[in-house]
Amino acid sequence: MTADTNPLPSTSPEWKRLVAMAAEIQRELGSDRDLRHGPGASVSACGIEFDGELARLTPEALGALQSLARARNVERQRDAMFAGSIVNRSEQRSALHSALRAEDPTQRVPGVERQVGPMRDRMRALAEALHAGAMRGSDGDVITDIVNIGIGGSDFGSRLLCDALGDLAPVRFRVHFVSGVDGLQVERLCRSLDPRRAVFIVSSKSFSTVETLTNASTLMQWFSASAPLRVPDHWFAVTGNARAAAQLGIPEANVLDVPEWVGGRFSAWGSVGLPAALFLGWPVYREWLSGGTAMDEHHRQAPLEQNLPVRLALHNVWHSTFLDCPSQCIASYDNRLAEFLSWAQQLEMESNGKSVTEGGRPVDYATAPIVWGGLGNDGQHTYYQLLRQGTRRNAITLITVDTASRAYPAHATALAHQAQAQAEALSKRDGGAGYNSVMRLRLRDLDPRSLGALMAAFEHATTTAAWIWGINPFDQPGVELGKKLAAQIQSQAV
Ligand code: F6P
Repeated sequence: MTADTNPLPSTSPEWKRLVAMAAEIQRELGSDRDLRHGPGASVSACGIEFDGELARLTPEALGALQSLARARNVERQRDAMFAGSIVNRSEQRSALHSALRAEDPTQRVPGVERQVGPMRDRMRALAEALHAGAMRGSDGDVITDIVNIGIGGSDFGSRLLCDALGDLAPVRFRVHFVSGVDGLQVERLCRSLDPRRAVFIVSSKSFSTVETLTNASTLMQWFSASAPLRVPDHWFAVTGNARAAAQLGIPEANVLDVPEWVGGRFSAWGSVGLPAALFLGWPVYREWLSGGTAMDEHHRQAPLEQNLPVRLALHNVWHSTFLDCPSQCIASYDNRLAEFLSWAQQLEMESNGKSVTEGGRPVDYATAPIVWGGLGNDGQHTYYQLLRQGTRRNAITLITVDTASRAYPAHATALAHQAQAQAEALSKRDGGAGYNSVMRLRLRDLDPRSLGALMAAFEHATTTAAWIWGINPFDQPGVELGKKLAAQIQSQAV
């Protein structure tokens, strides 16, 4: 790639103004003028409210960030992405994850329907057959267990859906996820699983990921040794590489395509979401897709000032780049979001963990934060001490759901009180070097639609932040060296 001669975003007047504003806020820390946004810092969409009242981001600085976003043409880049333009320039690809969830993909990008339509129809047919008891094993047994074999983007999205919405699934089904090459997941699964009642989904866009291929071949050997069962009755592949799937023994008829224009970490909206569609049932999965599409419409239509994903992105850029907060702590106050962090970590850190512009020019500013956290209530009894009295600068997002545990309303109320108290406590300082900037994301309810909307909002926040930083959020060249070295070590070992 030819050297990028475009001026770095950090040379713009909008950027320099923000550097000055951030310096003033840091100077005023601990003074009476302790600068925060204060009331009127909310933006809502699709049953989700983002509240930046406690964030160390003044209304003036927010305005300056919105000017920067305009100067960085985030609206033009957003529209180009939705229109199917080549926005992933290093791989010369579109990024059309939104078409996977669109009611009618053709409305978005002519021709994309040819890929999305058949894939979605196949997923629906399989899910409906399973839930109708029509999906049978070779011996005629009803299928009860779904095993997904995949890692990273071929694991996290489906795992989050199944965990967060699992209470909506019929009780007779179980879903299992096998990701790392450790072998323990495979071992424990083989101890409890009846192969006659199981379907296996080998999920890998490239079908070259060593962890997934190792787990798949071990499980297929176990499967073939356990009982005289036919692979076509029990094994499916989700991949952009049907030929490699055939080499593993999975017939083309059992392969669902992963289009090249969707990145792994954005892919659960398509065939990579098959384990979730099977486990939850098509209506629930379809609702989730619709939630994502509703957020797409908001992101496409709402002005920057009232655009929830853009607001998330601006807070992310502000804290990571201007206020020099090295990390973003996501603390979820609903156990149904226990898997949210892993999904959000890959999304942000694999997308924006970059130190060169799209054109290959080294940046002179911080990009993606380290994303960490987990279940907030548990975090209170582990790492909140550091957040309260440590020496670090912390950007903290608390996610709450107004209707947490229905079975035990008293627990839901107690949890809400904890979250409210912690938002206040975390935004107070006890002197010392560290400080926190606290944001809140409130979901009216956690159902398939709102989860879809939440995940789409985070996706758009990640791509919007990337466009402000001038980096490419759709590739992950940094992961290749480790894979290459592991393959070399493996080949030298045999
Ligand atoms: O190594 C990182 C990565 O390529 C991710 O981007 C991807 O989600 C994951 O590995 C799995 O890749 P695949 O779906 O091709 O097996």
